[in-house]
Amino acid sequence: MDMLTQHFGGPAPVPLIPDSAPFTPEQRAWLNGFLAGLYGGASGAPAPAAPPAPPEDFPWHDPALELPERLALAEGRAPARRMMAAMAQLDCGQCGYVCKTYAEALANGSETSLSLCQPGGKPTREALKALVAEAKPAAAPAIAATPAKPAAEHAPVILSQRLTGEGSGKDVRRIVLDLSGTSLRYEPGDSLGVAARNDPALVDAVLAALGGGDEALREALSAERDIARPLDRTLDLLAGAARDAGEAKALRALADGEEGILDGADLLDLLRTYPSARPPVADLVASLPVLKLRLYSIASSPLAVPGRVELCVGVVREERRGRVRDGVASCHLAFRADAVPAHVQESHFRLPERAETPVIMIGPGTGIAPFRAFLQHRAALGMKGRTWLFFGDRHAATDFLFRDEIAAWQGDGTLERLSLAWSRDGAAKDYVQHRMAEASADLWRWLQDGAHVYVCGDASRMAKDVDAALRGVAMREGAMDAEAARQWIVALARQSRYQRDVY
Ligand SMILES: Cc1cc2nc3c(=O)[nH]c(=O)nc-3n(C[C@H](O)[C@H](O)[C@H](O)COP(=O)(O)OP(=O)(O)OC[C@H]3O[C@@H](n4cnc5c(N)ncnc54)[C@H](O)[C@@H]3O)c2cc1C
Ligand SMILES: NC(=O)c1ccc[n+]([C@@H]2O[C@H](COP(=O)([O-])OP(=O)(O)OC[C@H]3O[C@@H](n4cnc5c(N)ncnc54)[C@H](OP(=O)(O)O)[C@@H]3O)[C@@H](O)[C@H]2O)c1
Repeated sequence: MDMLTQHFGGPAPVPLIPDSAPFTPEQRAWLNGFLAGLYGGASGAPAPAAPPAPPEDFPWHDPALELPERLALAEGRAPARRMMAAMAQLDCGQCGYVCKTYAEALANGSETSLSLCQPGGKPTREALKALVAEAKPAAAPAIAATPAKPAAEHAPVILSQRLTGEGSGKDVRRIVLDLSGTSLRYEPGDSLGVAARNDPALVDAVLAALGGGDEALREALSAERDIARPLDRTLDLLAGAARDAGEAKALRALADGEEGILDGADLLDLLRTYPSARPPVADLVASLPVLKLRLYSIASSPLAVPGRVELCVGVVREERRGRVRDGVASCHLAFRADAVPAHVQESHFRLPERAETPVIMIGPGTGIAPFRAFLQHRAALGMKGRTWLFFGDRHAATDFLFRDEIAAWQGDGTLERLSLAWSRDGAAKDYVQHRMAEASADLWRWLQDGAHVYVCGDASRMAKDVDAALRGVAMREGAMDAEAARQWIVALARQSRYQRDVY
């Protein structure tokens, strides 16, 4: 979840647009009024007195900035802050922390894994490696702390329905869970945290490679530990235990971050490739990362489906080195689970308070999830109009998720405007941001009317490009230069008018 707005809080002087700025008097007056409103003053009013100790700022906490720019902004700050700048700045929770707390845990030594920032990928991992090496003398070793798991309740999975049509390259599912026997409550915009179990066939194969094991070991490998992503400490342990010198050397190189044929190896790959490396099983299990909860944006409104929660889950399944690798939670939910421990993760991703505030929703792929919840909710409340959905996926014929529901909402006026982009139907890629650019003038008008903009879905590419497209709209229609457009979008986020739920 993008918590951009949280970190910019606190009083600040009201900035006024200088006369030399490239605006017409009307634009300047509007901007001054806008900024005064934003900072809590009246238009043209003198700036409030500065607070005695300004709150710490995090200028790099902006996922639109590139890594070198973020690191430059954190130059001279404490190691924990520079490490924070290396993260993807999405506060997505996939690491079990948010960007700030993951960095703090690395800096104080309570977390040792440098590869937990999924959206940051390899560049983040490498930047962290350098920063941790630099900070090492100061860092006191600490006992590894496991991020606390929220209290979960068992929710039966009552439906796994394929949404993508025959011939689609994707398997996207509507997953329905029964909450009637739980105390779990949610609002549109919230996410559901799910505790999944590893594939029993994979656990069997690991047990076989270890030469067997009891029920306690099976349960630990099934429900408690991540057997897909061994950490450096697992590699160290295996290297230390390897009786074969060649295996020990290869494992040591892997532990030192050298990449090679075992890129993306899971525990089974390691056990099969290095049969002489068999540390005590209890040590091996303890070295594995904790199996993390997976979050899913809720795709339903409790007003429309009381006692239930619905998700829109993309099944992750790919082949590496001749073996099919299943995403732990997506495949568990789609194919295996009867019931899952689940909790509701409350969110800042919220519909505007006022019914008449325009809502712009940009959610290609599974990013449609919270917008289905928003539209269900508004439909249940009989709210009409002032909603605009940008959706896209690969092919119109097979990948138009919730097509009939969307058509019904268009028909009854719940959805005022729909913009679609099919990326693989034509010769060139067609994405939601292309629709945004085409509708630039209308988007700007909606924004002038106070629209809230919501973005959900892929963090690594889509969210960045949509962010750039939005800045493009401001530059084109609002006659801003690149820096002014960047400031404008930050101000929009501060007002909670630009919210992102990206992963
Ligand atoms: C706030 C939030 C909301 C979300 N909402 C949704 C949603 O609405 N719908 C949705 O579908 N998803 C959503 N997600 C993503 C979701 O949480 C999961 O990340 C996603 O389903 C994949 O989880 P998994 O357990 O199936 O896959 P995982 O097992 O976590 O695997 C993920 C990827 O990692 C790769 N991988 C695994 N092991 C290795 C390795 N050793 N080396 C290299 N690569 C490896 C896998 O091959 C796969 O490509 C959301 C995430 C967040 C943070
Ligand atoms: N590792 C993989 O191969 C893989 C595959 C699917 C999904 N995922 C991940 O799974 C998650 C959910 O996937 P999903 O099915 O919801 O959606 P998705 O894979 O992100 O795709 C949804 C749509 O967005 C398009 N898209 C791709 N890049 C884009 C960009 N820069 N800007 C705008 N649109 C773009 C896709 O087009 P094209 O795909 O035609 O470019 C597709 O039409 C995401 O985190 C995604 O990164 C990974």
